[in-house]
Amino acid sequence: MSFYDEVGGAATFEALVAAFYRGVAGDEPLRSLYPEAPELGPAERRLRMFLEQYFGGPTAYSQERGHPRLRMRHVPYAVTMDQRDRWLRHMVGALETVIADGAPIDEAHADAMKDYFVRAADMLVNTHT
Ligand code: HEM
Repeated sequence: MSFYDEVGGAATFEALVAAFYRGVAGDEPLRSLYPEAPELGPAERRLRMFLEQYFGGPTAYSQERGHPRLRMRHVPYAVTMDQRDRWLRHMVGALETVIADGAPIDEAHADAMKDYFVRAADMLVNTHT
């Protein structure tokens, strides 16, 4: 069984990114970075497909978008430490929300996801002010 299945599969990732983008939508400095804002649906779908693939689920992301190359894909956006903190706060908050709502994510899996989010967000900071 993949990590993806262990944490509840599609339903979990759908709920996670939905909760995350509800947070982003209410966070003006972060939201203003998104090229299609206030429309966040396309970004939500790409992040969902990416996370599903990263955690061992369906590979729709790469079929549609090719190699993730996340650092390169974030170059157009000024990702400062402040934006990183905002992104992470919403993602960790979203994870806690889906767990509170009953997603089958135990502590070890939640810790592994948080660790990944911190590492990935640190890697994507590209603007030092
Ligand atoms: C550190 C703070 C971050 C900021 C401010 C940020 C911001 C953005 C923005 C503005 C976009 C363009 C939206 C769009 O797809 O139209 C984007 C795309 C994306 N981001 Fe981030 N991001 C951050 C961290 C992350 C992290 C940690 C991940 C993965 C764990 C991630 C994964 C993605 C993916 C998969 C896309 C879509 C790439 C594509 O296929 O075009 N981002 N991000």
